[in-house]
Amino acid sequence: MKFALITAILLSSIGVAHAASADKGQALVEKANCASCHGAGLNTPILPAYPKLAGQYSDYLYYALKAYKVGNGNAQYGRNNAVMGSQVQTFTDADMHDIAAYIATLPGNFVVKK
Ligand code: HEC
Repeated sequence: MKFALITAILLSSIGVAHAASADKGQALVEKANCASCHGAGLNTPILPAYPKLAGQYSDYLYYALKAYKVGNGNAQYGRNNAVMGSQVQTFTDADMHDIAAYIATLPGNFVVKK
């Protein structure tokens, strides 16, 4: 029992225990209106300083969101950005997994043809 509990805590702390739901993620992304900066389909940002997100790997997206939430008080891991820091404050860990799972499904075009 104790072992199971510890295992569950460890797994949730590295983000494995939650089965991400892209549907829930979509609802969260629409509610927060992430597209107001990251653009239609989260693939056409309104400014070049705003990253394209569509199609990015969900693991990367999750860790990016988590890093904004942790903030740069944790210099090893956190990201210090006032805009994104305020966006993610209300999200739970599960929310961030769901959002990442959803964004990863969106068609994107990171690579610009040269
Ligand atoms: C007011 C504008 C704005 C809104 C709204 C916004 N973002 Fe952002 N987002 C930014 C900016 C600017 C950056 C780049 C910040 C930096 O330099 O670290 C960014 C970065 C990100 C990144 C990191 C991308 C990478 O490649 O590392 C993710 C993931 C992200 N946003 C997701 C979201 C999600 C999900 C939402 C909605 C909940 C959202 N954003 C809403 C402006 C915004």
